[in-house]
Amino acid sequence: MLRSLCLLRLLVAFSFISRAQPLAPQDFEEEEDEIPRSPLRPVFCDYDRCRHLQVPCLELQRASPTACLCPGLSSPAQPPAPPRLGEVRVAAEDSSAAVHWCAPSSPVHQYWLLLWEGSGAPQRGPALNSTVRRTELKGLKPGRAYVVCVVAANEAGESSVPEAGGEGSEGSGGPAFGPCGRMVVPPRPLTLLHAALGVGAALALLSCGALVWHFFLRQRCGCPRRARARAPPAEGL
Ligand SMILES: *[C@@H]1O[C@H](CO)[C@@H](O)[C@H](O)[C@H]1NC(C)=O
Repeated sequence: MLRSLCLLRLLVAFSFISRAQPLAPQDFEEEEDEIPRSPLRPVFCDYDRCRHLQVPCLELQRASPTACLCPGLSSPAQPPAPPRLGEVRVAAEDSSAAVHWCAPSSPVHQYWLLLWEGSGAPQRGPALNSTVRRTELKGLKPGRAYVVCVVAANEAGESSVPEAGGEGSEGSGGPAFGPCGRMVVPPRPLTLLHAALGVGAALALLSCGALVWHFFLRQRCGCPRRARARAPPAEGL
């Protein structure tokens, strides 16, 4: 107690001398912890719930030569909490989508994806083992919007999915922090679309050019005609 008080004062003094930013209370804790070093506090295992092919933390812990900590998990007697959908990257060229997700804080035995279009029935993808965090959806239809959800399952059951068609969870359009998200597959004939847009723009430009040219010509060399042309509107006004 006395020692740590001394240490604290020393740290305070040091922070004043060095004119560093004032240390927040948690900085003190961290600095204090760093001095006795780790025998008292084991480090976290190298586990990332969003990393693809991530070995479950309990296995890492078993295999680790030094003690390490795992994030807490819910009971294996309960169905897993829903995973969190991450990035969904749609590839327009082949109408596929790469779907990423993060594991929930629950024991998981397998994952699968649910995919549906508009008010259609959800289609269930193949089962993926518990290390998987990324998969690819193929055979999507160009120009369509889909909802994709990740489901986690263990022996006690499967994670919940918001009601099919329940788009309330992503009302604002952005990906919600839930198991589901929306994606839109761009229309495939992109080249055709671009060509159509190009032709449209060219036509618009041409007609503008023609109009400008027409008025210019009338102003520059159509003086007598202009005089005549001017007359009727003047009368009209
Ligand atoms: C889980 O699935 C992935 C992808 O299919 C595979 O690479 C990996 O070896 C599998 N892991 C286990 C433990 O079965």
